[in-house]
Amino acid sequence: MNTKVDTLGPRTIPNPAGYDFYTKDGSFVLMQSAFSGEEEFQDFLSQKEHIYFEQSGPLEKIYFNPSEVVAGIVTCGGLCPGINDVIRAIFMELHYRYKVPKVLGFRYGYAGLVEKNQIEPLSLYPDLVVNIHKDGGSILSSSRGNQDPKEMVDYLVKLGVKILFCIGGDGTLRGANAIYEEVKKRNLKISIIGIPKTIDNDINFVHKTFGFSTAFAKAVDALYTAYTESKGAPNGIGLVKLMGRHSGFIAANAALVSKLVNFVLIPEQDFDLEGEGAFFERLKERILTRKSAVVLVAEGAGQKFVATDEKDPSGNQKLGDIGLFLKSAISDFFKKENIPINLKYIDPSYIIRSVPANAEDSVFCGFLGQNAVHAGMAGKTGMLVGTWNNVFTNIPITLATAERKVLKPEKSYLWRAVLASTGQPNSLKARK
Ligand code: F6P
Repeated sequence: MNTKVDTLGPRTIPNPAGYDFYTKDGSFVLMQSAFSGEEEFQDFLSQKEHIYFEQSGPLEKIYFNPSEVVAGIVTCGGLCPGINDVIRAIFMELHYRYKVPKVLGFRYGYAGLVEKNQIEPLSLYPDLVVNIHKDGGSILSSSRGNQDPKEMVDYLVKLGVKILFCIGGDGTLRGANAIYEEVKKRNLKISIIGIPKTIDNDINFVHKTFGFSTAFAKAVDALYTAYTESKGAPNGIGLVKLMGRHSGFIAANAALVSKLVNFVLIPEQDFDLEGEGAFFERLKERILTRKSAVVLVAEGAGQKFVATDEKDPSGNQKLGDIGLFLKSAISDFFKKENIPINLKYIDPSYIIRSVPANAEDSVFCGFLGQNAVHAGMAGKTGMLVGTWNNVFTNIPITLATAERKVLKPEKSYLWRAVLASTGQPNSLKARK
C-alpha cells in the first residue's frame, strides 16, 4: 500500500507564517492503533515495516516563494455543509499567514477551469470571504462532470496558478488526480491538493469528511417528525429516506442520535421484503405488538428492487427511489394482511446538506483548510488532507479513491450500536 505523498522539490524557503512551533518534516501516524488481542499485537511488533500516513501541518521550510504564488480554489460535486468554511480557511491562511498575493476562486466546479467556457474566476479578498461560513452552499458554486485535464492545465498555466485546491468527493478527487497526472507529464511545478467533501463520509482512509456530522445532525429533525407522526395515529409508520449513495453512515448515525428508529436499511446490507425473518414480517410484528414504527432507509439501500442503469454527469449510478417504492410496498403489504396502518413518508432530501456547517464541522473545516495550505506551500501534490487516529494527515489521492469506504455490518462497532439502539435483527434476509 503506497502512502507516500509526492512532492515538487526541495523545501528551502523559511516558512513566513510565524508560528511558535512547526510540524517536523517526516512526522507520521501509524495506520493501525488497535489490536485484537496479545497475539495480533506481538505480530505487529515483530513486523519490520508498518503502514503509516504522513502527518499534516506547517513545516519550517517550504517549497514555494509565497510572493510568486497564485493559488486557485475549486468546489465540485454536490453541495455539502462547510464548503464556505474551507474556502475561507484556505484564503485566510494564504493571505494573512503566508502573504500569498493572489487567490482565485474558480466557479462552477471543473467547468470553471476550462477557458473556453468563459467563466471568469473570482479574485478573493478578505471582505469577500469574511462571513461566508455563515451560509450553506458554496460561494463559488459547483458542478458535476469531468473536464479535459489538458484544457484545465492549459488554463492554470495561463493564469500562473501554482497551487490548486480541489474541494470535493470521490469524483472530484479523481478529477484532481487527472490534473495532477497531466501536470506531472508536462513537468510543471503546480501543486494539486484535495480536500475531501461529502456528506456520505465514504472516502477511504479518511476517518471523517467535513459536512457529514452536520448532515446527520440535521437529518434527526426528520426522524423526530416521523416518530411523532407514528405515535399520532393507530398503527402509525414513519418512513424516512436519507441520502447516502453507497454508504449507510448518515443513516446509521442519525438513527443513533434520534434513538427512536426501529429499522435502519442501508446499502451495505441486503434485505428481503417477503418471507420468514424478512423485513415485512418483522415490521408486522412490531406494529402488532407496539402499534407504531419508525423505518429509516438510506437512498442506496435495496437497489435490487428499484435499480436503474442511468448515470449522472459525474458517472455515478443513478439510484432508483427506494423511499417511494417502500412507501407503496409497505402499504400494499398491510392491505393484503388486512391490517390498517397510517404511513407517513418523509424525505428531507437536500435539506440536510444545504445548511451551514454546525459548530463541530466548522472547526474541523478550518483545520482542513489550513492544513491544505501548509501542504500546498510545502510543495506536496497529488494528495488530500484528512484525519486518521485523531491526527490530520496527508495521503495520496490514488490511495483514497482506489476503493470506497463503506460500513461493514459484520464487523462494524457502529452497526452493532445501531442494532442495539433499534432492536432490529442482525439480518432481514428471508430464511431459506
Ligand atoms: O455525494 C453526496 C450526495 O449528497 C449523496 O448523498 C447523494 O446521493 C448525491 O450527493 C445526490 O447529489 P445530486 O442530486 O446533487 O447529484
